[in-house]
Amino acid sequence: MGDHTLEPANTLLVGMTGSGKSTFAYRYLLNAPAACRFIFDDLGRAATRLKVRPVGTVKQCEDALASRWVIFNPHVMFPGATRDAFRWFCKWTYEVSKRGPGKKLLLVDEIWQWQNNLAIPQELALVCQTGREENLELVCATQMPHKINSSITGQSTELVCFRTDERLALDAVRDLRGDVAKVENLPMGHWISYNRITRGELAGRVF
Ligand SMILES: Nc1ncnc2c1ncn2[C@@H]1O[C@H](COP(=O)(O)OP(=O)(O)O)[C@@H](O)[C@H]1O
Ligand SMILES: [Mg+2]
Repeated sequence: MGDHTLEPANTLLVGMTGSGKSTFAYRYLLNAPAACRFIFDDLGRAATRLKVRPVGTVKQCEDALASRWVIFNPHVMFPGATRDAFRWFCKWTYEVSKRGPGKKLLLVDEIWQWQNNLAIPQELALVCQTGREENLELVCATQMPHKINSSITGQSTELVCFRTDERLALDAVRDLRGDVAKVENLPMGHWISYNRITRGELAGRVF
C-alpha cells in the first residue's frame, strides 16, 4: 500500500488453523502487481499449492528473479539449520529489493517459528523496519498474534483477521484495534481487515 510513501507497509494475517490464512496469502501474492514475490517455504507447501518450482541455491534464487517468484527451499543450502536459512533469506531478499523499483513481497507463513514477542532475528527486523524504503512488504501469518514481536506489529499497516477462538489471540487482535466480537464469529474462510493508517475496514472470504 502507499507505494512510495514512508508509511509502514506490512500485512499480518491472523487466525486459527484452517481458517484461510495461507489461501489468502497466496492469492494476495498472485494478484499483487509485484516486481517479485519471495516465499520462505520450509515445508514445501507454497511450492505445491502455487505449482511453482522451489529454488535452493544462490544461483537458482538469482535465476528465479526473472520469473518474479522466488520460492525458497532452505534444506538445500542449510540442511538441519533452518533458522540460519531463514536469516539468510531475509537478508538476501532485502539486498535484492534494493536493485530496482517496484513492489516486492516477502511471505513468511507460520512466522511463530522464527520469532516471538521477546526475540526476533535481526535480518527479519531489518525487513520490517527498513524494507519500506526499498518497496519491500512483509506478509506474515500466524495463529498466535500475541507472540508477534512488536517490531512487526509496530510496522503493520494491514491486519487481516480470520476466525479464531483462542483467548490470547483475541486479546492481541483487540490490542491491534480489531473488533473481537466480529472476529470470533467469523465463519472459516471469511476475513475482516483493518488498515492502521486509514482506519479503513474491509471484509471478504477466500472460501
Ligand atoms: N494443498 C491444498 N490445496 C487446496 N486447498 C487446500 C490445500 N490445503 C488447504 N486447502 C484448503 O484451504 C482451507 C484453508 O486452509 P489454509 O488457507 O491453508 O488455512 P490456514 O493457513 O489458516 O491454516 C483448508 O481447509 C482446505 O480446504
Ligand atoms: Mg497456513
